Amino acid sequence: MHFELTEEQLMIRQAARDFAQNELKPGVIERDEHQKFPAEQIKALGELGFMGMMVSPEYGGSGMDAISYVLVMEELSKVDASASVVVSVNNSLVCYGLEKFGTEEQKQKYLMPLAQGQVIGAFCLSEPEAGSDATSQRTTAIDMGDHYLLNGTKNWITNGNSASTYIVMAQTDASKKHRGINALIVEKGMPGFTVGAKENKLGIRGSDTHSLMFTDVKIPKENRIGEDGFGFKFAMATLEGGRIGIASQALGIAAGAYELSVQYAKERQAFGKTIADLQAIQFKLADMATEIEAARLLCYRAAWLKDNKLPYAQAASMAKLFASETAMKTTVEAVQIHGGYGYVKEYHVERLMRDAKITQIYEGTSEIQRIVISREVLK
Ligand code: CAA
Ligand code: FAD
Repeated sequence: MHFELTEEQLMIRQAARDFAQNELKPGVIERDEHQKFPAEQIKALGELGFMGMMVSPEYGGSGMDAISYVLVMEELSKVDASASVVVSVNNSLVCYGLEKFGTEEQKQKYLMPLAQGQVIGAFCLSEPEAGSDATSQRTTAIDMGDHYLLNGTKNWITNGNSASTYIVMAQTDASKKHRGINALIVEKGMPGFTVGAKENKLGIRGSDTHSLMFTDVKIPKENRIGEDGFGFKFAMATLEGGRIGIASQALGIAAGAYELSVQYAKERQAFGKTIADLQAIQFKLADMATEIEAARLLCYRAAWLKDNKLPYAQAASMAKLFASETAMKTTVEAVQIHGGYGYVKEYHVERLMRDAKITQIYEGTSEIQRIVISREVLK
């Protein structure tokens, strides 16, 4: 068993760390305050090869491994989780699904520009009445021979307005239940496709979350991913990798808050010494460090299994469950260590605490991760 990162992985991590400090940190408070999408930063991340990290160079990607993806997600999320969710969705929910299950034509037309970072993608499964209960899709894709007619509403879609390519799950044959669902590639601007208002959120406020409406949108048959009725399996298989991305995002949020807390504890004076000299603070830092390390190892393990083409659904859910709970716990403690300063924006930890909460909700809530894990445990 090796616990060392390779030279290449260390270089990739350093590049992501430098980018986060130099390009993301300067405007992060303002973007959060004004709910500003990090458009320029995402373009630059595309130029660095971070928008199609695991995609083969043949399709415009960087051909990196999933461990490198975890490293990049951690570093970006330490500073700006609004930017890192864009990276996660594009890499693991859109590029991965297209590369693994798409046709050669779909890869040339849609994957290539997504992997090169020229355009952004979105993954559209959730609906107003189908979140955790994802099989109960109400959006319909009626088979019209050479095309599908798409009708319905999707909710909470990350990159909802900024994306150009959307993968939309919809029900074609309700009598077949989840086996009647299809995954369709939808382009922005297709007649009948409209983007709803931007959600005003607690955290990851720079990210772009919208509802999407489809009214008689004609989707050519060649835009279906996989066989007829493969859509739900497509969504579930894609979410396995997505959960590694969000686990790493949660890890980064926790690690970012922890690093700020160590630094602050060494500087802040109280009762004639630094607060780092107080055992109450030392024990908080010890717990944070231990839980973050455990979360990191779970992320690496899930990524390693994926890289080695071994089953990783349970490992990804374990990583997401543990890392997201760690992110919430750690960021609350980070605010506590900062005292009153932790409660104001300039010290960053209050934002990290707000950002942490979403990692327990999206890509399957903590309760849903427990369902996935326990099913494997009891198999
Ligand atoms: N890979 C392939 N197929 C899978 C699978 C996987 N990992 N998991 C399940 N399936 C298949 C099953 O084999 C089954 O198919 P068959 O009947 O043909 O065998 C089918 O999917 C249905 O599976 P279940 O019976 O397990 O379905 P369920 O109704 O019990 O639901 C669930 C299972 C795990 C709760 C699932 O509904 C789920 O994951 N819900 C959460 C949804 C979610 O994560 N949404 C995230 C949206 S994206 C997002 O959030 C992005 C973002 O924020 C940035
Ligand atoms: P519900 O499913 O209604 O859950 C409500 C509560 O009940 C939760 O605590 C849940 O854990 C619990 N619960 C439900 N079922 C069970 C059960 N069987 N056992 C135990 N507890 C249960 N979706 C996309 O498709 N694409 C995106 O890009 C995307 N981005 C998002 C971005 C943001 C900012 C947000 C807030 C959401 C996003 N989502 C996206 C949707 C997200 O995946 C869902 O919100 C999530 O899956 C939960 O669904 P829900 O909100 O309908 O909650």
